[in-house]
Amino acid sequence: PALLLPAAAGLVLTPATRTHSSAAAPHARPTIRAVLDVDVSQQRVPVPAAFFEKSDGLLNGKAAYDEMYQRSVDDPSAFWGEVASQFHWEEPWSEVMSYNFAPSKGEVFTSWFKGGKTNVCFNALDRHVAAGHGDQVAFIHEPNEEGETVKSYTYAEVLDEVQRLANVLKEKGVRKGDRVSIFMPMVPQLPIAMLACARIGAVHSVVFGGFSAEALSGRLIDAQSTVVLTADGVMRGVKPINLYDIVQAATKICGEACMEVEALVVLKRLPDSDKTPTLVEGRDVWWSEAIASADPKCDVEWMDAEDPLFVLYTSGSTGKPKGVLHSTGGYMVYAATTSKYVFDLQDGDTFFCTADCGWITGHSYVTYGPMLNRATQVIFEGVPSYPDNGRLWRIVDEHQVTQIYTAPTAIRALMRSGEGPVKASSRKSLKLLGSVGEPINPEAWRWYFEVVGDSRCPIADTWWQTETGGIMIAPLPLEGWAQKPGSASLPFFGVQPVLITPEGKEIEGPGEGLLAIKAPWPSTIRGVVGDYDRYVTTYFPIEGEEYGYYLTGDGCRRDEDGYHWITGRVDDVINTSGHRIGTAEVESAVVLHPDVAEAAVVGFPHPIKGEGIYIYVTLNEGVEQSDELLQALRMQCRGEIGAFASPDVIHWAPALPKTRSGKIMRRILRKIASKDTDADSLGDTSTLADPSVVDTLIATSPLA
Ligand code: PRX
Repeated sequence: PALLLPAAAGLVLTPATRTHSSAAAPHARPTIRAVLDVDVSQQRVPVPAAFFEKSDGLLNGKAAYDEMYQRSVDDPSAFWGEVASQFHWEEPWSEVMSYNFAPSKGEVFTSWFKGGKTNVCFNALDRHVAAGHGDQVAFIHEPNEEGETVKSYTYAEVLDEVQRLANVLKEKGVRKGDRVSIFMPMVPQLPIAMLACARIGAVHSVVFGGFSAEALSGRLIDAQSTVVLTADGVMRGVKPINLYDIVQAATKICGEACMEVEALVVLKRLPDSDKTPTLVEGRDVWWSEAIASADPKCDVEWMDAEDPLFVLYTSGSTGKPKGVLHSTGGYMVYAATTSKYVFDLQDGDTFFCTADCGWITGHSYVTYGPMLNRATQVIFEGVPSYPDNGRLWRIVDEHQVTQIYTAPTAIRALMRSGEGPVKASSRKSLKLLGSVGEPINPEAWRWYFEVVGDSRCPIADTWWQTETGGIMIAPLPLEGWAQKPGSASLPFFGVQPVLITPEGKEIEGPGEGLLAIKAPWPSTIRGVVGDYDRYVTTYFPIEGEEYGYYLTGDGCRRDEDGYHWITGRVDDVINTSGHRIGTAEVESAVVLHPDVAEAAVVGFPHPIKGEGIYIYVTLNEGVEQSDELLQALRMQCRGEIGAFASPDVIHWAPALPKTRSGKIMRRILRKIASKDTDADSLGDTSTLADPSVVDTLIATSPLA
């Protein structure tokens, strides 16, 4: 097998468990699981009988899944062709699927439903309204302030606002294929903005509202989007976020790079005050005024199945964030199908995904998947901890939520307040609990299952990525499908996970290796904006004898039952509170400070965030370390990336451990950051130019 990516040799495997880590390689990276749980439970938890009192189950038990899964991998074209025919296609496809994952065999590509024409917005809205469901509630807006009166939307109302907004975009000159950026709070108008783009074939690029002006401008320039949908601001908990000011600052940075932002559509979300922005005349319009005067009818643009639907920026191990591209037909089919089966989404359900649409979870499991299934959803503008840690459970009761989908970091944060805030609610409406974004440690799993779900609800621990577009590995709530706390268990239909060695050899049976996927699923990443080479070297560096693999960047262990235990990233990506940040991004931010000579960033196990951000900073000669400098470096990260990139630990490092050729040895920095510093753990330090650096760093650790 050919290994095309030399960097893969630097990949490290992470131990899934403490028991496991004793046998693992010396450079293994400690994980949150290892810290919180002595061993990963092999306990098997059946889907609770109470679940089947609420649901007939969409399939007839695990055996039905087994049969369907087999069919989906034996004949993907027949399987997905049948699934896709449940949607509206203006013109039929001529070929279900073709692909090449092996760079040596020519251009890498994935194609689904070639020649077919459809529109995702039409399938998510018009189809339901035409079938008589216009009066069904689509979005229940749950505001930041509990009790504030805000508008909820029926499917007909969403369709109306989407059409008007689509016409506003057209008036601003947006045409099929143009990229429109969206920098908005998590309110119903955010998915509405995305659907309006999809309606006219504009490619949306949603940027999470927590990013800084610097980060936003980079994404605007890379996507070359000159039209931006935004808001004056939003309250998140007690914190105001002045989105318009951030966009303004970003447009200035764009201007310096010779890119003019030509139009802003601004939603007013905050009450009038002296902070209400004065819009730039000729460039900006208020959302409400623009849609009030817009034509209420907007025909859909029929799109080729392989036309791009959206771009979403995500961090990798090197360089600046990449714009991950997803296309129309395959993404639509996969987002809808995973929503339905993984969450047992059925008529009458009220689905509550706590993710912001600025991340892939909000794309696939707020805007697209549930809407394609005609679900009623809660759109939550606030944060789980405001005004107190009981908020989510009160939302569940108030709106009779049937499925909640959230992240382990939120669960761990809420666990800190104990059972009280949970038990103050009934939660009787819940039938299923979802988890996403990072490994869920068994302790949090058990709390979610026993305390939140009263042992009545199965847990869907869903493993997937921005690049995969939809859920790849997750248990389905079926009779006979036992769950193991901390394992995402088995693949979804059509997904063929394999474990490989860094050399590209497949590992059979139980074992641990790099997680890769053989053959495409419908929402496979289609490209990286403007960078084919990066797309190939990042995701398709490994080729077997017959075919290539999509490389996930995660490590994984497979047990005797074939269950998958994701062990975390094997590259230089930190997963902090379920957000991906490249260590290189944080390093570039810190070294911009004039007092900094050098910086190295690693992740370390953090009890709430999963991984925290740990920065080793070497100051210029003569510069004294100080609290002011510490604060300045934090601000530097916030300013360059966003508040969520603020470091958890800054370690003043007199020097960094380097090889004689000058390469920083990150595995040693990871060990020191996680306080795992006995000689066995540290491994061989003799190749360092100056081994005494290690002792100095251990002695100067701020965690000591
Ligand atoms: O490391 C895996 C982790 O999150 C990464 C993907 O991050 P992102 O593209 O931001 O998408 C997050 C939401 C899908 C993965 O490479 N990850 C995500 N879900 C899980 C997970 N790790 C373990 N278990 C999960 N359920």
